[in-house]
Amino acid sequence: MKLKGQTIVLTGSSSGIGAEAAVLMARRGARLCLVARREEQLREVQQRVEEEGAYCAIYPCDLSSSEAIEACADQILREQQDIHALVNNAAHSIRRPIEQSLDRLHDFQRTVQLNYIGAVAMTLKLLPRFLEQGHGHVVNISSLSTQIPIPLFSAYLASKSALESFTRSLQAEMGHQGITTTVVYFPMVRTPMSSRTAIYKYMPMMHVQKAAGWIVEACEKRPSRIARPMGKLGSVLLAAAPGPITNLPQPLFRGMDKLLASRLKKKG
Ligand SMILES: NC(=O)c1ccc[n+]([C@@H]2O[C@H](COP(=O)([O-])OP(=O)(O)OC[C@H]3O[C@@H](n4cnc5c(N)ncnc54)[C@H](OP(=O)(O)O)[C@@H]3O)[C@@H](O)[C@H]2O)c1
Repeated sequence: MKLKGQTIVLTGSSSGIGAEAAVLMARRGARLCLVARREEQLREVQQRVEEEGAYCAIYPCDLSSSEAIEACADQILREQQDIHALVNNAAHSIRRPIEQSLDRLHDFQRTVQLNYIGAVAMTLKLLPRFLEQGHGHVVNISSLSTQIPIPLFSAYLASKSALESFTRSLQAEMGHQGITTTVVYFPMVRTPMSSRTAIYKYMPMMHVQKAAGWIVEACEKRPSRIARPMGKLGSVLLAAAPGPITNLPQPLFRGMDKLLASRLKKKG
């Protein structure tokens, strides 16, 4: 599906992968509706999109508030005619051991509220328009780490797994009504999100431009999944042997963290 003239609602587009995806889609002639909290950053991305000659509207919104989502989606629906795709990309990540989260239930609540409930709420608001049109594509952003379980991201990965499950239900129930879905399983990508963890400074990561290209591909080709071969294999192995696939790699992950920490200490 060519993106020229297609209206894409893209959340989390004030920075990182979302901002770059907006510019790439603008180059292909898409019309962009950008959603995130920080208006100034959204304006900067809007300017980059408009420099590509594309239409761009911004909708500052805190997607962890159901009321704010309601108001934002109503405004988008009022201002836009056909809406071709919704990309639920906004998210918050927390890296913390479960053992240090015993009195931090709010970590789980906050993460689920934005990464899962926020995405579902936006989807539910746009679905009636998609049904009216007879088409609509929903792209939900997840992580390689739900395919190969890594430690220390319990709140984040649970929220992403919930979103994957919702996506499958959406596809199963509404596919015959013209609703299509893609789940994108990103590996580590160099963005403000991953840069918040100091020891990741020297970790090899996907370039943000390449990750943005995956979002473009999700909107253009509409596959049910975009993932690395390693992630696809991980999903199969995890389904077949959850115990060993969860337990066996853990010493490797602990070793990798130690190596990254010592590299950071040496190089600064
Ligand atoms: N980077 C990675 O290594 C990696 C790996 C796997 C998956 N992912 C996924 O890729 C997606 C993009 O992540 P990124 O790395 O590009 O992160 P990022 O640079 O931190 O961008 C996150 C985006 O989400 C928005 N956001 C955060 N809280 C929000 C809220 N309450 N309401 C509205 N918008 C909010 C931020 O905008 P405001 O602050 O302006 O609101 C920002 O635009 C996420 O779904 C993430 O989980 C990333």
